[in-house]
Amino acid sequence: MHILAIETSCDDTCAAVSKNGEIVSETIHSQSMHDGFGGVVPEIASRGHIEKISWTVNKALSDANLAIDRIDAVACTMMPGLIGSLIVGGHFAKGLSQSIGRPLIAVNHVEAHVLSNLIDRDKRPSFPFLCLTVSGGHTQIWLAESPYRLSVLGETIDDAAGEAFDKTAKLLGLNYPGGPLIDRYASTGDPDKFRFAEPSVPGLDFSFSGLKTSVLYFLEKQSKEFIAGNINDICASVQKTIIDILLKKLTKAAKDLGITNVCIAGGVSANKGLRSELIKTGSKLGWKTFYPALNHCTDNAAMVAIAGHYKFLVNDFASLDNVPKARA
Ligand code: KG4
Ligand code: ZN
Repeated sequence: MHILAIETSCDDTCAAVSKNGEIVSETIHSQSMHDGFGGVVPEIASRGHIEKISWTVNKALSDANLAIDRIDAVACTMMPGLIGSLIVGGHFAKGLSQSIGRPLIAVNHVEAHVLSNLIDRDKRPSFPFLCLTVSGGHTQIWLAESPYRLSVLGETIDDAAGEAFDKTAKLLGLNYPGGPLIDRYASTGDPDKFRFAEPSVPGLDFSFSGLKTSVLYFLEKQSKEFIAGNINDICASVQKTIIDILLKKLTKAAKDLGITNVCIAGGVSANKGLRSELIKTGSKLGWKTFYPALNHCTDNAAMVAIAGHYKFLVNDFASLDNVPKARA
């Protein structure tokens, strides 16, 4: 059973093909037109997807050595994301599914991030598992009881963890997206050199806006020379604060529910500090820990193919009335 998956929720044009739940090919075209704008410009992103979507889908099919008539269903991210970007992928998928006479599967982008931990057959968590999903738009703790029973236990009440990385990077004069750069500087910095505010939010919810303000006030008081000379320590200290905030809530969720399979997913799960702290916390508390391969942390179509695979198994198909939505 072959699924062709399409993902265009932000600025990456992605396609993948799976066979019986295994990824056989995947293609990604990352847009570079946003460089210099300090973020993704939605209108530019949609236009970029229009230019590249046919090429991306054709490449995924040819790398899988498959003609389009061998595809059993077309899965596509329909929400949440940038609406113009979603419309390009969503309508391309609808047209394709109609033209080849195969069903359409509508996938939720954040649920696909949770299921990205099932892409690699040899490193799969068993159900039930917890997944901390941390990206540029989301910070949530998910409970996955099965591929069909996914629920949010807690989430950010303001900024996402990825935004905390990106906004800190912007204050430091680094390019967008700043997360990978902070990760790199932090790897040789002292995480205990500077202290930044940690919020106190009840339950399993998160907040990152206080941290952003605390970084801003700290940097306003320093000279350019001081910031340049201490950039590694500043990045390491901010990164440590973000990781502490995330892992405290993940630990609380695991203890409250008695769950020992614990995963992370989303763009921020590529962070080296977060990955190693997850392993350390897990070995202290007796968890089995999981994170996706680096190319499956950030947006990709392999996770959409996996989500689509499970939906196909229970005939969860979408009608042509299904329209892309910016919010889930
Ligand atoms: O999942 P993703 O590709 O797109 C969204 O759905 O948002 O996540 C993008 C986010 C950005 O905020 C980016 O800075 C962050 O993930 N990110 C990282 C790292 N790689 C990507 N943050 C920290 N460390 C990284 N290595
Ligand atoms: Zn994402």
